[in-house]
Amino acid sequence: MPVTIIIGAQWGDEGKGRFVDWLATSADIVARFSGGDNAGHTIVLGKQVYKLHLIPSGILHPGVVALLGNGMVINPVNLVKEMDGLIAQGVSITPENFIISTRAHIITPAHIAFDRAKEKARGADAIGTTLRGIGPAYVDKIDRQGIRAGQMTDIESFTETLHTTLKNANHTLARDNVELLDVEKSSLDYLEAAARLRPYLQETAIYLNQRLKQGARVICEGAQGALLDVDHGSYPYVTSSSPSSGGALTGLGFGPTHVDCVLGIAKVFSTRVGGGPMPTEQDNAIGAQLRGTGSNQWDEYGTTTGRARRCGWLDLVMLRYSAAINGYTELAMTKLDVLSGFDELKIAVAYELDGNRYDYPPYDSAVLERVTPIYETLPGWQEDLTGARTPAELPANARAYLQRIGELIELPITSVSVGPERTQLVQL
Ligand code: IMP
Repeated sequence: MPVTIIIGAQWGDEGKGRFVDWLATSADIVARFSGGDNAGHTIVLGKQVYKLHLIPSGILHPGVVALLGNGMVINPVNLVKEMDGLIAQGVSITPENFIISTRAHIITPAHIAFDRAKEKARGADAIGTTLRGIGPAYVDKIDRQGIRAGQMTDIESFTETLHTTLKNANHTLARDNVELLDVEKSSLDYLEAAARLRPYLQETAIYLNQRLKQGARVICEGAQGALLDVDHGSYPYVTSSSPSSGGALTGLGFGPTHVDCVLGIAKVFSTRVGGGPMPTEQDNAIGAQLRGTGSNQWDEYGTTTGRARRCGWLDLVMLRYSAAINGYTELAMTKLDVLSGFDELKIAVAYELDGNRYDYPPYDSAVLERVTPIYETLPGWQEDLTGARTPAELPANARAYLQRIGELIELPITSVSVGPERTQLVQL
């Protein structure tokens, strides 16, 4: 501290939420900086399961301010639904512990319709987006024609702008033979949501910098994963923002000098949702074993979309690149318990294609699709790890697996999770 940035080191769904939740106990502010409700965090506290999409998990901690930064794209109607869901579970949400940047951008029903239409038009080359309107909302932002959250302070002008935007969108949708938006209903829904959200709007960058000056400890909660970064991921199979550590600075508005920890979170194997290259994917019994049956919320099915995740061996080529672009100071790993029961485990240490060796992923997704991983094989273990709480309680082969990852990535691995509960964590 003062600022810890937590980044999903792979393709998302690494289990960042639990680390944010854990570190939030000693934080003053937990802030999201990129993406929108394409994200999904599941936090298990005793018998309660909290599913969060937009709101940082810091909201579950009394005294912590949860902040939605300027780099985000926000669907106001879905945000209000999420707030109401949490309030119904007994969580307190007030303008004192929850603030939204006036500079964040609004996702409209038009963005969602365009996301759908574009994915459909892509056919077999679909990106596999979450259909939440994320890409089209960022397009409007970069094209300087977006609606910003701050506009919700003036409900009349907000509704007028939205109404015009939706009517214009309908011209385009009609031209493309796509179902039209219900302009009046959507306008009304957004008007109601804007009225609810208005008290939470603030100049969050100014707020954050003032709090930092006063000594506040801040956690920046990454969404998605660094390998989905629009600049660094396997373009075009990426999200439309920068879920990497650099994105935290621009997406919240503070300088790099405040940061003293960049914590990368990685699963001990690989998963990916949606399209795009995944060199270590195991579309077979190994992948099925890694995925689980879906009978519990820890299995590999999307929190936001419910889609089965693609699963495969740990990819050190990707992780190496992720470490380079994010500058991790340490790594925390998740789901070690899932590897119990394999006779041997594989780690991709490089790729090979046409006689060439790659230590980093090639920029071209078409090339990346064709590479063959070069694997290192390690012995597995059979023991159930879910009760382990200290390194000594892990089997020797599990410790050796983690140690080898640490050597290959040249980073300290400081903890590993062995189950979904807060307490199912081993400090290394
Ligand atoms: P979008 O962010 O909805 O535009 O989707 C772009 C790509 O990012 C798709 O492959 C999605 O599956 C993926 N994606 C977006 N959000 C998440 C997430 O929270 N976890 C994992 N993958 C995600």
